[in-house]
Amino acid sequence: MAPAQRSCRVLLLIALLTALPLLAIVAAAAAGAATATTLGNKAALMSTTQSSPIVSRIAFGSCANQSAPQPIWDAINKFDPQLFIWLGDNVYGDNKRPFRIFGKERTIGPWKNVPRFFPSTEEELQRRYEMAKSNPGYAKLREKAQVIGTWDDHDYGLNDAGKEFTGKNTSQRLLLDFLDEAEDSPRRKQAGVYTSYLFGPKGKQVKVILLDTRYHRDPLFSDGSILGNSQWRWLERELNGPGSEITIIASSIQVISNLSATTAPLFSMEAWGRFPKERERLYKLIDSSKRNGIFFISGDVHFGEITRYDCGCQYPLYDITSSGLTQAVEKAVPSSLAFFLRVIAWLVPSTMRVFGPYCRYRSCTYGQPNFGAIQVDWNSIPQRLKIELRDLNGESVAGVDFLLSELQLGNKHMTSKRGWGYQHHCSVETDLPWILRYCLAFLFFGAVTVAIMTIVLLVSVILSVGNMFLRKYKID
Ligand SMILES: *[C@@H]1O[C@H](CO)[C@@H](O)[C@H](O)[C@H]1NC(C)=O
Ligand SMILES: *[C@@H]1O[C@H](CO)[C@@H](O)[C@H](O)[C@H]1NC(C)=O
Ligand SMILES: *[C@@H]1O[C@H](CO)[C@@H](O)[C@H](O)[C@H]1NC(C)=O
Repeated sequence: MAPAQRSCRVLLLIALLTALPLLAIVAAAAAGAATATTLGNKAALMSTTQSSPIVSRIAFGSCANQSAPQPIWDAINKFDPQLFIWLGDNVYGDNKRPFRIFGKERTIGPWKNVPRFFPSTEEELQRRYEMAKSNPGYAKLREKAQVIGTWDDHDYGLNDAGKEFTGKNTSQRLLLDFLDEAEDSPRRKQAGVYTSYLFGPKGKQVKVILLDTRYHRDPLFSDGSILGNSQWRWLERELNGPGSEITIIASSIQVISNLSATTAPLFSMEAWGRFPKERERLYKLIDSSKRNGIFFISGDVHFGEITRYDCGCQYPLYDITSSGLTQAVEKAVPSSLAFFLRVIAWLVPSTMRVFGPYCRYRSCTYGQPNFGAIQVDWNSIPQRLKIELRDLNGESVAGVDFLLSELQLGNKHMTSKRGWGYQHHCSVETDLPWILRYCLAFLFFGAVTVAIMTIVLLVSVILSVGNMFLRKYKID
């Protein structure tokens, strides 16, 4: 039996057994410069010799609530990265109105009369960045590691916002202040925060490309542009320029995973998959650049996930999602229900997710706070690359470990053909048979039906028992 088919059966069984708690979980889950800077200027990357120091330990993360405790910095500091990459939602800059169906301020349903999210003033956004920056754990990291980053919607200023957001230039200035960007940096003058860095000596170079998925993004459902023309032209130059052993493309939103395709119509998430033409253009550009060593890192979704796409270019493309540093789906539900979230994550079919021995639950997803940890073993022959998600204690909870040569042109990687007429890691989620694709929706509506039937049954039992007593009383 295909794993996904078995998944659906087990899922439906669980639905029958646990209609009510599952309802609660699903509801909670639903709520839930263009300048390449060559570096070597910050403490850890500063070198006493003339040559650029070798970079072999990089951490990354996203989704940090500045007002909440942030114990994860201890684990990150223990990992002792030379470089830390922010992938967005570095602070929560916007504000959320309560979930209300009735009353004066209705934030949900077709009858809603106010938006759920609204932006902060400039002073308030600045205050939140200062709060984030003064966190002792983060301050300690900044002393030892170079910190770079991009933004996502909440630090851009508004949930799910794109190019239409009027506060974007102010937000750009505040983010670049937070990241200690030089006053005269060209990144302060361009439209958007995209940029790139090159680390390491020749032969051991790591290029980091930070995308801006906000400033130029067309509305959701438009299938328009994510990057906009100026950023596309820049990205083409970056990828076609001089090679590097490793190229990390950082995108705030997921590139490979298109969860919305299997969580619809219950809820959907932002991702490159929601802009199919734009994503195809990205894959084509990577393929035509003939560049070795590319992989993606991403954030946004409040859980960690590792996915792989084998048909984007001539070698497998990985997308390692780390989310969030404080925000995590399993924290949003009572701990007794967290188990069900893991079951759902494990069972919901995904054509791209990696299943592997280095992942705690085999399926490479993780619903507690986490950060990403990249280690390059430049000295081993052949050279190896290990990318992990680590938890609050710094323990690895999901990861992939492979030879750097696997990310090279001409690598004959395996794409295994399985049942159902789709290839794992090679077909998009929308190619799944509909019964699998809408597994979660069936589960949800099945659970609702079971819940209603149980209530009806209970009420009728109570009524008939009551009647029986009444009749008995009358007869007596
Ligand atoms: C951030 O944390 C504070 C304090 O725990 C909480 O009141 C607030 O709702 C959180 N914000 C988000 C976006 O989770
Ligand atoms: C925002 O900045 C861009 C680029 O620096 C500039 O072209 C644009 O006019 C600015 N917009 C506003 C509203 O100031
Ligand atoms: C991703 O999923 C959405 C929602 O089902 C769908 O509209 C879109 O076409 C998918 N994208 C790709 C690239 O398959």
